[in-house]
Amino acid sequence: MKSSVYMTWAKRHAAARYNLAGSGILGCSPQDLRLRPEDILLNGDNADGLPALRAAIAAKYGASPDQVVLGQGTSGANFLACATLLEPGDEVLVEQPVYEPLLALARTLGATVKRFARRFENGYRIEPESIRRSISRRTKLLVLTSPHNPSGVVAEPAVLSEVADLAAGVGARVLLDEVYRDILFEDAPPSGLHLGPQFIATNSLTKSYGLSGLRGGWVLCDAELAERMRRMNDLMGAVGPMPTEALSLQAFRNLSHLESRSRALIEPNARLVHDFLRSHAAAIECVIPPRSLTVFPRLKHATSCDLLHDRLRERQTSIVPGRFFEEPRHFRLGFGVQTADVAEGLRHLSELLREHS
Ligand SMILES: Cc1ncc(COP(=O)(O)O)c(C=O)c1O
Repeated sequence: MKSSVYMTWAKRHAAARYNLAGSGILGCSPQDLRLRPEDILLNGDNADGLPALRAAIAAKYGASPDQVVLGQGTSGANFLACATLLEPGDEVLVEQPVYEPLLALARTLGATVKRFARRFENGYRIEPESIRRSISRRTKLLVLTSPHNPSGVVAEPAVLSEVADLAAGVGARVLLDEVYRDILFEDAPPSGLHLGPQFIATNSLTKSYGLSGLRGGWVLCDAELAERMRRMNDLMGAVGPMPTEALSLQAFRNLSHLESRSRALIEPNARLVHDFLRSHAAAIECVIPPRSLTVFPRLKHATSCDLLHDRLRERQTSIVPGRFFEEPRHFRLGFGVQTADVAEGLRHLSELLREHS
């Protein structure tokens, strides 16, 4: 079926009073964007994306506006990248565990999907050796996320460069979904864009800034491929979504304010989660990245987290069951919401884990 099982579940079942299933920063209000009425534009010159927005994105990355393609969120950006590059039957190499819509996208486009493992035992690092074993002359695209969804682990630039060399060796590209990158603030590693011409980097204002509903996303890659993606985008409309692009521009003008807002939420919340994980070491084990919006703990004494999930629902608390990431003993915990809600959700989780052990 041409759909994502995870997204269908997330839309129907993830909402809860204490929502630890989401993976983004709490949604912004119009006040957070410091909007003035004149910032809202309905029509204008945006046949290939609002030029001022493409320029703002390019400036953030030290790139040229020719290298920027606007898409509807990171999902739309990923779609444009894959639909432009892939033909039915092309081989695509996708990380495992992965954000499932990326897998569904490759399959929807008729690609033959192969996998490479990111292992809990190795801190969910990317292992070039594992890619080397699966890559072939038929491979057209590698798909990975950094920071990794679900674990939050950040790939080292040197390792990504090795991956780019492997891709270059067979004439493949690398799609690097960077939707969680900006939550690393000043510690963010270079974008894939700067790690080699094989890379196609995607991102949006969604996760790190609490602007999911805005759908402000982008692709960064070499100018020739970017132009092909803009022509692919012609199939979606004669112009881009002008209010989205105008408000996204306003977000870029206020990015440091939005960043402070995100930091004020994530720092205390991460402390709560890290303390929680350490104090439940008898029941769960976890790779803990220094900074992230999600973690992916594993139950030590169960084969699935489904019961834990169901019992948490009775306490109005949601998590993402690990089966959506092909790892049923794990669950994904997101903590970008109000600190008091994270604390209460963790309290419920704590009670159940203690009861369980
Ligand atoms: C890796 C990854 N890419 C893309 C998305 C979707 O981003 P957007 O809402 O900007 O389309 C998500 C959302 O969870 C994600 O985890």
